This record gives sequence, structure tokens and C-alpha cells, in this order.
Amino acid sequence: MDASALLALRDPAGVPFYPIVFQGLYVLTWALHAAFVLLALGAMGLSLYGTLKQKSDSHWKILTPHLIQTGKISVSILIVLGVAPLLFTQVIYDPNWYVANTLSGMWVFIFIYTLVIGYILYYWYYYANKAKEGGGKLIGIISFFILVFAGLLMHNFAVTSIMPNDWMDMYAPNGIVDTSGWTLNIKLVRLLFFVSLSIPVVGIFLQNYSRFLSTRDDFKGNFIEYTSSLGTKLTVIGLLISAVFFALWMSSIGYLMHPLSISIIVGVVALLLISYSNSNSYITTGVLVVVALLISAMRELIRFDIMSNLGYNIYDYPVNLEIPSIVMFLLTFLIMGGIGVAYLLTMAWKVGKSQEPIFDGSKDKAVTRLGNYTLVIMVTWMAVYFAWGMFILFKNIL
Ligand code: HEM
Repeated sequence: MDASALLALRDPAGVPFYPIVFQGLYVLTWALHAAFVLLALGAMGLSLYGTLKQKSDSHWKILTPHLIQTGKISVSILIVLGVAPLLFTQVIYDPNWYVANTLSGMWVFIFIYTLVIGYILYYWYYYANKAKEGGGKLIGIISFFILVFAGLLMHNFAVTSIMPNDWMDMYAPNGIVDTSGWTLNIKLVRLLFFVSLSIPVVGIFLQNYSRFLSTRDDFKGNFIEYTSSLGTKLTVIGLLISAVFFALWMSSIGYLMHPLSISIIVGVVALLLISYSNSNSYITTGVLVVVALLISAMRELIRFDIMSNLGYNIYDYPVNLEIPSIVMFLLTFLIMGGIGVAYLLTMAWKVGKSQEPIFDGSKDKAVTRLGNYTLVIMVTWMAVYFAWGMFILFKNIL
């Protein structure tokens, strides 16, 4: 692929801020998206096993609905968090993202319906299991595979977007233009690596789950021990499986000895050791976050190298500084997002830790304060957003 074709596909308006910032935000937000993708698939997959044991085993009776609930919430979070890397990728790698979406146009449509149907079926599974222990197995399995299929489609868009050298062949195979939009590219080892990570992620989740509940009187000691050791087993086995896929993937693209790849392997070994000893799962989670960021950076490095070798370097993207937009974005992201998320997390933490039958947030100082801050900030944000928008609109048209 000729660099001039790629450069011609860039947005003529340029980017509103330095490309490296968008690249960093892409790495960060994709890692967040991936965390919830993996938790959703892992929790849901394990809950399906739970539906088989739920009737006869007292531990799975408690655990299965909790896993279903965790997966259900994670799907909604992964969707919200998927939007952020999507925005960043289309700012700095717009030629790639739009070409992939054109070549795979039909799959893009199908992706939306896949997600809608998969998630509706998940709710069906949730309600069926709530109504009857062990219920909803078949619907749960169908929903699980539909959501995995959504991941496969996402993988296709990511992979197609980094194959500029093959775009012409996909667009016009044997010289005949194909506008069907059915292009599908799967790199199996890469996909298996990402999907397999859901095993250690749900394992570490279980270690945290057990640690979190251990302070409550209404969960018996043997249940806490069971979930903790199940978490450890899943983490260790899952990490070993993922490590094999990772090594295969890296060696197939010649990156195995790259310092970033080596640091991921070191991170995985560290995760293996600390999750095996399971002395503090919250520390294990911290290490997992670092490894997730490194994996996200690895994906970006592969794309960056492919593109810069073709003469498309994101750092050369014309910058058309637009300070007000960036200030608005950062304030929204850091202050409104930060305080809003802190409010929700604090409340969720306290609800989980409370021994009362009903947790009353208005009686809790921290929750009330954070709730009030969030409300004030959101109202101010809306006022500024609309006032600013109206001002710009009238300034431009009057
Ligand atoms: C159940 C639903 C989903 C699953 C299982 C899923 C899974 C994945 C996986 C496995 C990847 C990595 C693919 C690869 O690099 O090979 C990925 C990437 C990505 N996903 Fe998702 N995803 C889902 C939904 C979404 C949604 C709803 C959005 C957007 C709103 C989204 C946005 C993204 C973006 C932007 C990337 C990176 C693409 C790139 O780098 O070119 N995902 N997703």
C-alpha cells in the first residue's frame, strides 16, 4: 500500500491535540474495555457450569446467581467502555478504521444485532435462572456463544484494519470489485489469546469476591475458602493457557523477543506467583491492571509498526490545536467521570460490606457527600455544555 493513499484518507481538518495523547488514551481505554469483556465472558461461562451444579451443591447455589449478575453488569460496562477506544482509534487511525468498516460493512450491521440479541438472551437467562435453580441453561449457552461471536467480529475489524497491504485484494479480488461488505479476517491464535484471558480474569475476580465477602457474617467460612481456591485454580490454569497462546502469537509475528513482549511475560509470571500464593488478591488485581495495560500497549505497538513501515506515522498527523474542546473533554473525563465513578464504587463497596438488611446511603457521610458533588457537577456540566454549544452556534450563524 502506497503511503500517499493512506495519507489522503486522513481527516483534512487534522487532529485537535497531540496524537500521542490520543494514543495513550486509546491504550488506557482499550485495556478497560478488555477488562470487562473478559470478566463478562469469564463470569458468564463459569455461571453456565454453575447451572449444572446449582441444584445439588450449596456453594454453587450461592455462587451461580452472583456470577450471572456479574456477567450481566459487565456486558453493559464493556459496551460503554468500548466506545472510548473506538473514538480514539478513529481520530488517529481513521484510514484504517473506516476502510475496515467499509470492507466488512455487513459484519458491522450484524455486530449490532448480535450484541442486541445476545444481551436480550442474557436477560432471559438471568430471569430463567432466578425463577428456577439451574434454569435457563440452553438460553445461557446460546447467549454466551452469541457474545463470543460479537468478540470474533470485533477481532475481524481490528485485524482487517491493520492489513493495508491486502486491502486492494479484499476490495477487488482478482480485479473484480466486491462491494458486498463480507470481508472477514480471523487470526485464530490472537483471538484465542484474548478470549482465553477470561479464565484468569474470572479467577482473580473470585479471589477478590471471596476476600471481599470474608468480612461478612452471613457467608460461611467453607464457602469463602471454596471460592478462593476455585479462583486460584482458575487463575493459574488460565494464565498458563493464555501464556502459551501469547507466545505462539508473538512468535508468529516476530515479536517474541521484543522488550514489551518480554515485560508481558515477566508480568504473567509475577501474576502466576502472587495469585498462586493468594495472600492479597487486591495486590494481584493491581498487577493484573499493569499486565492489561502492557497487553493493550502491545496491540498498539503492532499497529504502530505496521503503519509507520508503510509511511503512515501518527505523530506526523497535522495538529490543529483546539484547546477549548480538549479542556472540556479532560474536565468531563477526569472530574465528572472521576467523581461519578468514585460515588458509584464507594456506594457499591459499602452496600456489599454492610451487614444491615437495607443500606441507607443518606446516612453515610462519604456516600452522601460524593452523591451531592456528582449531582452539582453534572448539573453544571449540562449548563456549560448547552450554553457553550448555543454560543458557538449563534456566533457562527448570526
Ligand atoms: C460482547 C461484546 C464484545 C466483545 C466480546 C468484544 C471483544 C473484543 C475483543 C476480543 C477485541 C480485541 C480484538 C483484537 O484485537 O483481536 C475488541 C476490540 C475492540 N472493541 Fe470490543 N467487544 C465487544 C463489544 C464492543 C463494543 C460494543 C464496542 C464499541 C462500542 C467495542 C469496541 C472495541 C474497540 C474500539 C476495539 C479495538 C479495535 C481496534 O483496535 O482496531 N467492543 N473487542
